[in-house]
Amino acid sequence: MKNKIKKIAVFTSGGDSPGMNAAIRAVTRTALANDIEVMGICDGYQGMIDGHFEPLTSYSVSNIIQRGGTILRSARSQEFRTKEGRKKAFENLLKHTIDAVVAIGGDGTFTGALVFSQEYEIPFIGLPGTIDNDLFGTDNCIGYDTALNTVVEAVDKIRDTADSHHRLFFVEVMGRDAGFIALRSGIATGAEAILIPETKTYIPQLIEKLEQGREHHKNSMIIIVAEGDDAGGAYDVAAKVKERFNYYDMRVTVLGHVQRGGSPSAYDRVLASTLGNAAVNALLEGKQNVMVGLVKNEIAYTPFEKAIKHHNEINPQLLQLADILAL
Ligand code: F6P
Repeated sequence: MKNKIKKIAVFTSGGDSPGMNAAIRAVTRTALANDIEVMGICDGYQGMIDGHFEPLTSYSVSNIIQRGGTILRSARSQEFRTKEGRKKAFENLLKHTIDAVVAIGGDGTFTGALVFSQEYEIPFIGLPGTIDNDLFGTDNCIGYDTALNTVVEAVDKIRDTADSHHRLFFVEVMGRDAGFIALRSGIATGAEAILIPETKTYIPQLIEKLEQGREHHKNSMIIIVAEGDDAGGAYDVAAKVKERFNYYDMRVTVLGHVQRGGSPSAYDRVLASTLGNAAVNALLEGKQNVMVGLVKNEIAYTPFEKAIKHHNEINPQLLQLADILAL
């Protein structure tokens, strides 16, 4: 069937993640290679409402594959949660004769796309762009690998000073209500304990682990705390531990938004390029309202409602591994 898509829009939404620019570049260049015009929408869904559209050419996306952040900027839009807001957005898409939209973001982005697709007939394809890595339908989200490496580099530096001062550090990492960043960065840095939202945290059990570390004459100990852990953030956990375990001087570091920036890793650049290319091909094949992912190295398409409703499972073997290797 002759391809009806002549012009697409692409935008980034929600928390930015390293590799989003590589994805924008791949979407743009794949579309242009198929004689499809591209419009970038700036500032996420708010930009769709306010009409912040700008044409993207091959030149617009040159020399950005290595840049963190997103040249289209991102935003969280309350107005898009309203019918009137979505109507304004649709009118802008019509005004720019947009035939389909590529949305790069996380579950909030795809929730918005799902609601929009139930009100307006315009195909959306989603690309998983979030450091949280909490989207179902892809082994890795764009930005997760880079965020992991950022955390590992930071925690290695903390280990240097912890070891020099015989200290116990609580390091809080991002992930919203998922523990993927915490778990793998904890294993990669040899953390003595890793607290994640997916498993209940028992402070007495944590103390037991720290006692073991003290008995093994550990000169320093690192506890990685996922920001969404049920025991609270790193400051909360440190306070609870301090009440019953005071053999080490303690400090807390909250890594914060440094995890969101930085030049994307090679892995994220290739993942973003692969998925960006696949998103345009999916539109050409008539697919819509699905997220494109990579599952066991194969391109996979997951309906938005599934991508946002299901969570990737934490790998129980990795949890066990973390426990055994931290002794
Ligand atoms: O979703 C990505 C993320 O970095 C989360 O890990 C974090 O909790 C949240 O965004 C922070 O949101 P904001 O950028 O609005 O402070």
